Amino acid sequence: MKKINHPVGNVKILILKKFSILLNRILIFAISLFLKIKKEESEIIISNAFYAPWKKDINFIKIYRKIKNYTLLDVRRLYTLWYLMNQLKNTNSNILDIGCLMGGSGFLISKINKKGKVFLIDTFNGYIDQENFYSKNSFVFEDVNFVKKKIKELKLDNVKVCKGIFPKNFEKKFAKTKFKFCHIDLNTFNSTKKSFYYLDKKIIKGGILVFDDFGMFGADGIKKFILENQKYIENRYKLILNFQGQCILIKK
Ligand SMILES: C[S@@+](CC[C@H](N)C(=O)[O-])C[C@H]1O[C@@H](n2cnc3c(N)ncnc32)[C@H](O)[C@@H]1O
Repeated sequence: MKKINHPVGNVKILILKKFSILLNRILIFAISLFLKIKKEESEIIISNAFYAPWKKDINFIKIYRKIKNYTLLDVRRLYTLWYLMNQLKNTNSNILDIGCLMGGSGFLISKINKKGKVFLIDTFNGYIDQENFYSKNSFVFEDVNFVKKKIKELKLDNVKVCKGIFPKNFEKKFAKTKFKFCHIDLNTFNSTKKSFYYLDKKIIKGGILVFDDFGMFGADGIKKFILENQKYIENRYKLILNFQGQCILIKK
């Protein structure tokens, strides 16, 4: 076979590739000392891409600095939310951030939105499903007033915090409400599945659902839900398996 010349140089590329593979093996080994990961289907995802637009987007950086301590999401996932939301900001419909915890991701989404209401939802009492290592005591944040105070401080318009179990406690409240963007960050299979089938009837054409924790350690329920329901989802949505820890659905 004829040798292909890489513009960067074949030797340089070979060294970089070998280094990346070695780094990956070392990291997987180190992580497996602390966490039980299925090595046969896991890898530390080191991308070959370098473009990191979150480092240069001034408007994003301004709000990111103010909210970064109130979310568990990393900058890449937050930027994806920001980027997607930007494309729907002028659409006349509503937004949900389900499993808002301290509110960080919801604040970010609200900052860019221009039309419709934003609802930040949480039990403010932790998980209702006991799955894997998620128990009654995981991620409990009860201070709903903190979230309300931050909404005022950040001067966010049309944003409401709601306490309750989703979707069970919201069927009446949202009986006539449609949504253009929903960020679903519930970590467990049961709540995620119930939320999806509820929102399926309420999301507008071109609307976006983002499931957090797709492929993340410990949140196997999200991956399981997406893969088990993939056929149904693909018939009704454009499905993007984003391997940065989110799954994105765009309603057809
Ligand atoms: C991982 S945390 C969310 C992190 C948050 N989105 C952030 O940006 O840091 C998951 C949250 O989902 C909430 N939760 C779990 N099941 C729920 C349900 N069925 N309804 C409402 N909230 C739920 C938990 O109380 C917890 O605060």
